[in-house]
Amino acid sequence: MADTTVPYSTGETKIGDTTIAEMRELAARYPVGRSALLPMLHLVQSVEGRITPEGIEACAHVLGLTGAEVSAVATFYTMYKRRPVGDYHVGVCTNTLCAVMGGDLIFERLKQHLDVGNDETTEDGKITLEHLECNAACDYAPVMMVNWEFFDDMTPESATQLVDDLREGTEVKSPRGATICTWKEAERVLAGFPDGRADEGPTGGKATLAGLRLARERNWTAPEGSHSRSSNGRAAEASVSPEAAAGPRPEDQPGKESQAVHTDDSRKED
Ligand code: FES
Repeated sequence: MADTTVPYSTGETKIGDTTIAEMRELAARYPVGRSALLPMLHLVQSVEGRITPEGIEACAHVLGLTGAEVSAVATFYTMYKRRPVGDYHVGVCTNTLCAVMGGDLIFERLKQHLDVGNDETTEDGKITLEHLECNAACDYAPVMMVNWEFFDDMTPESATQLVDDLREGTEVKSPRGATICTWKEAERVLAGFPDGRADEGPTGGKATLAGLRLARERNWTAPEGSHSRSSNGRAAEASVSPEAAAGPRPEDQPGKESQAVHTDDSRKED
């Protein structure tokens, strides 16, 4: 395990005029500048490799906040890291469903394989391992994430192969399509500076769309007189056709044909 103990401030920072200008650009995207604090903190991580005190002070300076106010936000959310992160942040979901489907086993195997504990970085600085709590991808449990890209239906064997590939520099793609970049590059995208690859791969596979398929097959529609909420918060009559309500057909979603559908198709309507 790499020694990730770092002083509060190293006295060095990569935050210069360019980053400050980009912070101002982010702040200008919002009616109230302080709304840009979360993306600005991601920008700090993309430059510094962690949330540094210099990064906190830069955000505070640009937004007219105190360092304490920025620090309070940076220490609240788990996606902001106070210690340097490796080239790849590898998360293993150990929340209930993933845990019983193998997530706990995967996490234990990776700790052993990488010789690190939770939230620790490998000696070569490549991998930071962390257990995550529900990635909202339970339909593909057990899931892992690399720099917040999904890896579905994992096993201890596929997990160790994944981290080995990352450490060796082999190109790795998420089964949902995205090519894995470095953690710093991913943080820049999260900050709001797209890399042009947001639409790589499919957006939903068979397991995710199973409910829609069943609704179509069984001609299920929303109850008569039901209401939906429009984006402005006003109630509106549900006027969506069954076809539109069911969304895109699973077979129209490329790349997920081999995924298991975790649905009991044998259940009949009453
Ligand atoms: S329990 Fe792992 S994604 Fe929900």
